[in-house]
Amino acid sequence: MRVVIIGGSGHVGTYLVPRLVLAGHEVIAVSRSRRDPYQAHAAWAAVEQRTIDRAEAEAAGTFGARILELRPEAVIDMICFTLDSARHLVGALRGTVQHFLHCGTIWVHGPSSVVPTTEAQQRTPFGDYGIQKAAIEAYLMDEARRTGFPATVLHPGHIVGPGWAPLNPAGHFNPTVFTQLAAGAELTLPNLGMETVHHVHADDVAQAFERALVHWRAATGESFHVVSPAAITLRGYAEAIAAWFGQPARLAFLPWPEWRATVAQAEAKATWDHIAHSPNCSIAKAERLLGYRPRYSSLQSVCEALQWLIQDGQVRVLER
Ligand SMILES: NC(=O)c1ccc[n+]([C@@H]2O[C@H](COP(=O)([O-])OP(=O)(O)OC[C@H]3O[C@@H](n4cnc5c(N)ncnc54)[C@H](OP(=O)(O)O)[C@@H]3O)[C@@H](O)[C@H]2O)c1
Repeated sequence: MRVVIIGGSGHVGTYLVPRLVLAGHEVIAVSRSRRDPYQAHAAWAAVEQRTIDRAEAEAAGTFGARILELRPEAVIDMICFTLDSARHLVGALRGTVQHFLHCGTIWVHGPSSVVPTTEAQQRTPFGDYGIQKAAIEAYLMDEARRTGFPATVLHPGHIVGPGWAPLNPAGHFNPTVFTQLAAGAELTLPNLGMETVHHVHADDVAQAFERALVHWRAATGESFHVVSPAAITLRGYAEAIAAWFGQPARLAFLPWPEWRATVAQAEAKATWDHIAHSPNCSIAKAERLLGYRPRYSSLQSVCEALQWLIQDGQVRVLER
């Protein structure tokens, strides 16, 4: 197929674009051309790269038309964050594309209730990001089922891979938490450390997009979680990382109001966002309908990212 991927040089695109090329698709990657993928791959030589700034083109009302000019058979939209953006693009592509895949987020769910959370559970998002993504999902599913617009929504968890800092055992992104665990130093977690996070390797997200394209009949009009096989508690995560460094986990715990005062404001904000959701999502639907088979557990994907952080000097491991 002739596949246009909007935002193809980021976390997911780094893996997805080579996968699509190797599968025989003709790939056009749209971005502002400000950055390179996290990893080089020979497949990029076969990719047509188009420079379009979505924000500018949307403001001018021309973004949909510019994507249509690329004559896509399938469009993968990695960077849609508002209902207005989604409506604009669907309006331009209606009746022309065979498949439209939107990258959502597990944040379309609010706090977990019955776990693992399935796609069928009622959406109770909070925070502007999750609320907008849930509105986009509802809109695309309605378009698919009512008008036949061939939309699929894939909801990744916390995306992990070598090249950027993974969500850490304290529920934020400061890599010094890993340095602390590597040194066998005490790490204080909020509450009892029993709140959960749900990672996914970027290549597994790419796998899900590739399989959704293959299984378009089962995929259209449906949304899918794309996460690792199992969520982990902050405590279990910290213990596993300490063990990976050959250290005992020296964990302490503080109630949230006290814990938040021990970290920077941005870290407290990130941790609250993650523990207030405490995601724990099911992949049974993606396994059944798309043949999704994640290659990485949460810890395997984090450890791969951690190796990169160590090489990059962002996490220090003292010689013993
Ligand atoms: N990160 C996570 O943990 C996470 C979790 C769940 C869901 N998601 C979802 O994943 C999607 C993001 O995917 P990603 O993490 O692979 O993306 P990413 O790493 O943030 O990369 C963004 C891509 O979009 C391009 N881009 C950014 N702004 C643009 C603009 N105004 N016009 C055109 N291109 C633009 C970037 O290239 P240039 O900078 O060169 O333009 C790049 O190719 C979002 O839908 C997000 O909601 C992310």
